[in-house]
Amino acid sequence: MTANLAIIILAAGQGTRMKSRIPKVLHPIGGRPLVGHVLTTAARLEAQHIEVVVRHERDQVVAALTKDYPGAVFIDQDDVPGTGRAVQVAIDALPADFDGDVLVLSGDVPLLEVETLRRLIDGHRTAAAAATLLSARLEDPTGYGRVIRDAAGTVQRIVEQKDASADEAAVTEINAGVYVFRAPELRTYLSRVGQDNAQGEMYLTTVIELLRGAEQTVAAELADDTASTFGINDRVQLAEAGRVLNDRIVRRWQREGVTVIDPATTWIDDDANLSPDVTILPNTHILRATVIAPGAIVGPDTTLVDCEVGENAIVRRTDATLAVIGAGATVGPFSFLRPGTVLGANGKIGAYVETKNAEIGEGSKVPHLSYVGDATIGRGVNLGASTITANYDDVNKHRTEIGDEVHTGSHTVLVAPVRLGAGAKTAAGAVVRKDVPAGALAMSVAPQRNIEGWVEKNRAGTGAADAASRENSAE
Ligand code: UD1
Ligand code: CA
Repeated sequence: MTANLAIIILAAGQGTRMKSRIPKVLHPIGGRPLVGHVLTTAARLEAQHIEVVVRHERDQVVAALTKDYPGAVFIDQDDVPGTGRAVQVAIDALPADFDGDVLVLSGDVPLLEVETLRRLIDGHRTAAAAATLLSARLEDPTGYGRVIRDAAGTVQRIVEQKDASADEAAVTEINAGVYVFRAPELRTYLSRVGQDNAQGEMYLTTVIELLRGAEQTVAAELADDTASTFGINDRVQLAEAGRVLNDRIVRRWQREGVTVIDPATTWIDDDANLSPDVTILPNTHILRATVIAPGAIVGPDTTLVDCEVGENAIVRRTDATLAVIGAGATVGPFSFLRPGTVLGANGKIGAYVETKNAEIGEGSKVPHLSYVGDATIGRGVNLGASTITANYDDVNKHRTEIGDEVHTGSHTVLVAPVRLGAGAKTAAGAVVRKDVPAGALAMSVAPQRNIEGWVEKNRAGTGAADAASRENSAE
């Protein structure tokens, strides 16, 4: 817990340079909005107050953040534009007797690390400064405010690109838009900030020169990692920041024992969770809260969104969302797993197979060219090539239930609702409209005929016959 600290996150701007219907701070990198990264980092400081200043599309911004950051308080900025006004409305919303430090963060500076912030706060407190700002030296400082120092190297003021003279614009030390202020001084000097500048805004940066004019101590901490101060104003910078974040995440997992064959084409979201001895092959996207167990091999050319992959499973050239893949199971190539797919241990979903809301039991296989939707499938089942569940009658979705050890012939159509008892079989091309009893063979070349006891008689000694007689004797 950082004592006596309030954090203000600025997220009220439109982000004109994004040219977007979506507010800039909600554009995602690493599976999380820009401002979400800032909030995640801020939360780790355990401050007494976290305020997010909103205005542009405020409902959208609030809705996107309340669930994941229940501790954040949203403050509405009024008609007065500028970062100074944003901080002013936020500080006015703090308890009037709050006299600790105020950490100001920008919703569009997503790569900051908590260690940098801790160093900034510690330095500020040790120096007993009225304000401490985070700066960075950039080869190309275009677009940022420049830090202007006097001959002795003391920070004098910050000048925005649009207000800078040619000499000032040539300065390569930039203001990261991240500051710690002592609350009482911040209140006092913010009230003296005007709007007399190129953008007609109340600049927060004006507080710095006002403090200096009053002989107050202003310190600057130079960031050692320039990427961490990266501010996102347009979509070129959005992609660059996304790349930097991804590099960090990939390296983190490599150090945890994950083999990533090609970091340049592997994208892993911040929320994903991998394990030692996982191997990720090229061109693979591990998105949202996907979890991968030890020994699994994923890729190439695979996208997993909110999936669970079990130990030693193999998932090749697959697109899967909200699916659970059991230990030792194999999926792909060219499989499409939609939400609600649960593949049991050692099961298989093979080439050109689509699944949805389908529970596929342990060791069961859907190897080729199938659609399996709204189905419950037992253990040791094998669906013949191009077996299809016809789950939709134009009005309602219906379920297909398949017992243990069922084998379907190629090109079987299971017209739901329908149930196949344990050990049952279907002939090639069967259109199954009626339930098939355990151990029966269903054919529909002519009207469907169920040959009772067929499996027990003709396939005696197989798992199917055993399962059939188990079910038959239970009845
Ligand atoms: C700001 C700084 C600049 C610094 C840069 C670092 C000022 C005047 N300039 O410039 O010195 O180098 O950040 O990235 O502070 N916002 C509000 N309310 C507003 C305006 C902006 O909440 O009225 C928010 C925005 O949503 C954004 C942040 O403040 O998250 C920064 O605003 P932006 O307009 O991007 O400032 P810059 O021009 O980048
Ligand atoms: Ca900015």
